[in-house]
Amino acid sequence: MHKRTTLRGLAAATLTLGLGLGGQLAAAQDSGTIKIGLILPMTGQQASTGRQIDAAVKLYMAQNGNTVAGRKVEIIVKDDAADPASTRRIAQELVVNDKVVALAGFGITPAAMATAPIATQSKTPMVVMAAATSAITESTPFVVRTSFTLPQAAVSMAEWANKNKIKKVVTLVSDYAPGIDAEKYFADRIILNGGTVAEKLRTPLRSPDFAPVLQKVRDAQPEALYVFLPSGQGAAFMKQFAERGLDKAGIRLIGTGDITDDDQLNDMGDVALGVVTSHHYAAAHKSPANQKFVEAFKKANNGMRPNFMAVGGYDGIRVIMEGLKATKGQGGEALLNAMKGQIFESPRGQVLIDGQTRDIVQDIYIRKVERVGGELQNVEFDVQKAVKDPGKQK
Ligand code: DHB
Repeated sequence: MHKRTTLRGLAAATLTLGLGLGGQLAAAQDSGTIKIGLILPMTGQQASTGRQIDAAVKLYMAQNGNTVAGRKVEIIVKDDAADPASTRRIAQELVVNDKVVALAGFGITPAAMATAPIATQSKTPMVVMAAATSAITESTPFVVRTSFTLPQAAVSMAEWANKNKIKKVVTLVSDYAPGIDAEKYFADRIILNGGTVAEKLRTPLRSPDFAPVLQKVRDAQPEALYVFLPSGQGAAFMKQFAERGLDKAGIRLIGTGDITDDDQLNDMGDVALGVVTSHHYAAAHKSPANQKFVEAFKKANNGMRPNFMAVGGYDGIRVIMEGLKATKGQGGEALLNAMKGQIFESPRGQVLIDGQTRDIVQDIYIRKVERVGGELQNVEFDVQKAVKDPGKQK
């Protein structure tokens, strides 16, 4: 039954995607190993995302074992360098040739979006561990997300800014889908609460140059600058923000936690001190589960500090493995259904995979960068509990 369902899905995928079946069906029938395809940016501008998620998945497997229903689980890691055309081609190969039961990873939104049609056509669940545009979970009924959504983070930050009497802001985002989400949900809420947005600035995803936009920020003289940039760009931004003296010009820096990424934060220096951000995870999150996670992650990775990407990966592989346990190794719709509604304690706190939206419901914390025991940390000081993606409450 299980094999037939899988094969039918594969056949459909193969036909639709225009790939030859060859002798691959025969190979699928007796495969003892359960395979999971993990597509990550291991090289290029987004490589820190790949490095963090890969390390987290390896840690989870080392801690929890790699067998389900007596079968070995193999994780096939592939580098897409955050190029969506590569992601799509790799996903296709993983489904058709390797017969993976699930696709996972997806460092940036375009990579997840490019893969969605393959998930639909082949009925292969895909678990988004990094990308965070709200609409991703609506791109295929086969997607589940364990990262976060930009609207989740943005609305909480806008509420905090309003409460803290910040009236005039400028927004600065990376010019692609998650940036547009962050800009819209932050600005709309600020304006709803009586604030003003003097300028909405955007920088390209690839090789951003912050100099021209920072000049515009200086000219606009807002009380605060709200920033979203994808993981890995925060350090370069902070450096230029300080070099242009904006930290001394009385412009408060706020944003999503992507800009004070725990992977880079320690090297950012004093310019990061006092920066307030909203996010779902901080390495400094105070819970026994997180302390254990951070310690084990650092120990296994030469002291590298886990960031929010690592937690998305750690929880994502957990959701897949727990799903596979429930289906005794079966993929397809059975696995998808077994992932919906999972509720568990993540290093970030209690989380739920919403059965309806397949998106993650989680606490969003307001944090301030402080020096703690010689290290820069995102110290959580406020929380909004069980936040559902505001992007789906249209
Ligand atoms: C996305 C990528 C990131 O690195 C990040 O921090 C948030 C969102 C994305 O492309 O969806």
